[in-house]
Amino acid sequence: MNNSELLFYNEYEQFYKMTGQSKAFEKFCLDAFGEDFSQDGFSDVDQINRILEYIPKGDDVHILDIGCGNGKMLGYLQEKTGANIYGFDYSENAINTAGQLFKNNADFRQGAIGEIDYPEGKFDLIISMDTMYFAPDMEKFVLQIMKWLKKDGVLFVGYQEGDVMPKTDDVNTTVLAKALSKCGIAFEAENITSETYDLLKKKREAALLHQKDFEDEGNREWFDLLLLQTEGILKPYDSFAKEMARYIYIVRK
Ligand SMILES: C[S@@+](CC[C@H](N)C(=O)[O-])C[C@H]1O[C@@H](n2cnc3c(N)ncnc32)[C@H](O)[C@@H]1O
Repeated sequence: MNNSELLFYNEYEQFYKMTGQSKAFEKFCLDAFGEDFSQDGFSDVDQINRILEYIPKGDDVHILDIGCGNGKMLGYLQEKTGANIYGFDYSENAINTAGQLFKNNADFRQGAIGEIDYPEGKFDLIISMDTMYFAPDMEKFVLQIMKWLKKDGVLFVGYQEGDVMPKTDDVNTTVLAKALSKCGIAFEAENITSETYDLLKKKREAALLHQKDFEDEGNREWFDLLLLQTEGILKPYDSFAKEMARYIYIVRK
């Protein structure tokens, strides 16, 4: 890892250490997102419920989460559908927690994008919320994901621009969209920037509501970070949307 990658890695390790202990963060997630998935992203329960329609019925269903964190999103999807769950993430703290929380029909692995592999045609559904940005070679990674999917399988991606990724002009010009197009892979995309603006408002309100809980735990720095991450909503929506965009991509094999 180079220095900036190491900095990111250490931040995620700290983040998942905090989420494993903090009641304030749990309460914050419930109020901001409607469910506590220890979100470091922008996936509220409505976004995650959209995934349910892509999970087939039956006992032999396998779903993978790329950048699964501590596995709580997968745990929720398993609770709703009974699917076998698989996840990988490079954070050791996150994967240790996932392994402790979910033991039935669950397979969690620690490793980075590019290091981890699965058998061909294994998954009915692959999800990746706010993690595709970290692929060192996006074209290679989307081809690998397509290999992992069963025939008729679906890839569901939550993808944001304006923070980790620079803002481009539209849904067809993101790094992910360009990689898919270059590989000849068709996709559908939905622009959910407007609902993300509303979600950021809820995140900010929830953070302020639990400020004292964060402070009492000695986690004031995480509260400060939440305020920083949600500063965008202090602008009117039109200005916000010039700097930030959020999309859901659906790819069918
Ligand atoms: C923005 S968080 C999103 C986490 C979760 N999917 C969510 O929506 O809350 C990005 C996740 O990707 C993981 N990650 C970052 N770079 C990675 C890489 N190169 N390989 C695997 N996981 C990575 C982080 O540890 C973190 O869990």
